[in-house]
Amino acid sequence: MDATEKPLIRALFREPVEHVPIWLMRQAGRYLPEYRALRAKANSFLEFCYTPALAVEATLQPVRRFGLDAAILFSDILVIPDAMGQTVEFREGEGPKLAPLRSIDDVARLDMWGTRARLHPVYDAIEQVKKALPAATALIGFAGAPWTLAAYMIEGGASRDFRHAKGWALRAPDEFDRLLAMLESAITQHLLTQIEAGAEAVQIFDSWAGIVPASLFDRLCVAPLNRIAARLKAERPEVPIIAFPRGAGMNYRRVAGVPAVDAVSIDYTVPCDWARETLQPVVTLQGNLDPIALVEGGDALEREAARILAALGSGPFAFNLGHGVIPETPPEHVARLVEIVRAWKR
Ligand code: CP3
Repeated sequence: MDATEKPLIRALFREPVEHVPIWLMRQAGRYLPEYRALRAKANSFLEFCYTPALAVEATLQPVRRFGLDAAILFSDILVIPDAMGQTVEFREGEGPKLAPLRSIDDVARLDMWGTRARLHPVYDAIEQVKKALPAATALIGFAGAPWTLAAYMIEGGASRDFRHAKGWALRAPDEFDRLLAMLESAITQHLLTQIEAGAEAVQIFDSWAGIVPASLFDRLCVAPLNRIAARLKAERPEVPIIAFPRGAGMNYRRVAGVPAVDAVSIDYTVPCDWARETLQPVVTLQGNLDPIALVEGGDALEREAARILAALGSGPFAFNLGHGVIPETPPEHVARLVEIVRAWKR
């Protein structure tokens, strides 16, 4: 099937669809026993991401089990800093650890050619997934947004307040812009190559958009997204672009206003009525079930899913979570959610 006929791609381009499409952020992962078995075959998480046979299988597992409308490439946003030569490690139960960038000299040492040179296994995995997918299932490629990558790269991992990253942006905005510009170019390259390899939509994860001071939001989040999206749109207009500025609150409006952005993924704090009135007239919406409702299941899941569908399902919409699936999620609850969404009628 041509990508333009797939339900998710149609919904992202605001075309009418028979059913509300559904896929889930982090749909591959530790909540699936078959993922845990596969993960045990690689020594490290990055080795797992860079071994196409494993990455392909992890990508396909949730699609096979639940019949979702999209596969999202199994990889990570931190492959970009890794490819740029920064030391990146994932320690069991601790999340990512990076050798932090703390000066402009550290930034100058990053390898601008690394993405092209080192991310071949990721593109090979996309080619293989593409061949193995059911006809109506879309393939999504992704990257982290410049601010979120910069935040991890400067801080050296997740952080309570990202004080080093924010501090640098406030203290020396011109230096910070230099890092953002390097990331912008690596991200654009990475997304274009994923499209070349077969990705039919792309999502840009700005997971830490919610902690950016209001006065810097345009400079750190909107402007880089605008430049990346404009480049992608100019080169590959057939590929819809989804932005996910998690926690952006009122600033969701500014992200939805970026001309080349086709869809915006809303986190679970965004009120559906506000999103329907303010954002849905301009972009397709995606989201926004709290991942904890999916852990709970039962009536809570039924109610929350019904509420979101009632508010957003009649306009351009793709069902998703407001953040990723968490490891405690019972797989049966995901199967039930897919049933609920499939059964819903406008
Ligand atoms: O199924 C999918 O969604 C595709 C795969 C995917 C992963 N990470 C796999 C992964 C995607 C799209 C990501 C994006 C990602 N990675 C983001 C943006 C989305 C978000 O969550 O806000 C971020 C911030 C990261 C960075 C990252 N990677 C963190 C903070 C962690 C550790 C936290 C955790 O949940 O363990 C990772 C590791 C990671 N990436 C895992 C998976 C399945 C868990 C590793 C394991 O198997 O133990």
